[in-house]
Amino acid sequence: KRVAILISGGGSNMIKLVESMVGDHPARAVLVASNDAAAGGLEKAARMGVPTAAIDHRPYAKDRAAFEAELLKPILAAEPDILCLAGFMRVLTPGFVERFSGRMLNIHPSLLPKYPGLHTHKRALEAGDTEAGCTVHEVTPVLDDGPILGQARVPVETGDTPETLAARVLVQEHRLYPAVLRAFAQGERGLITL
Ligand code: GRF
Repeated sequence: KRVAILISGGGSNMIKLVESMVGDHPARAVLVASNDAAAGGLEKAARMGVPTAAIDHRPYAKDRAAFEAELLKPILAAEPDILCLAGFMRVLTPGFVERFSGRMLNIHPSLLPKYPGLHTHKRALEAGDTEAGCTVHEVTPVLDDGPILGQARVPVETGDTPETLAARVLVQEHRLYPAVLRAFAQGERGLITL
């Protein structure tokens, strides 16, 4: 299977995904693309030998569909079977999402369906949750709402800040996403719980 990964920043999840696709793994990374040419993950992907592309979304501030038409060019050229969003911070239109229906994954830093959207750790702390975590789900036109493929849980510790909780969750993201991608690429669809 050919996997394209979309990032917006440092790409720590992308790095773990690329590093996992070796040996007898049924998938290989064929592209890392970003909406920001300055995304640190692009250089790391290039160093790992993965082709990269950057489409700055800012010139298309008013026209999301025009940005996506540009973003689609390198993606379609790479002929991916699976698209992984990994720290990708642009909302995609239903038109884009439907092109990859059933084969686009995203990692979200909360135990969905709790806390879709942003500032998930701050919201979990403010709610007094004793547990937090991350979710890998199939991407559907509704933000952070598709079928859940895997989840990992962490305890909330007293004195946690959004930053300390985010760091604890990120460690689990780096375990969960590669595990879910490998199963997904092999056609397995059971829920993975770490
Ligand atoms: C992570 O919290 C991830 O859950 C969210 O974006 C953040 C940064 O991800 N999707 P990465 O380090 O760029 O992979």
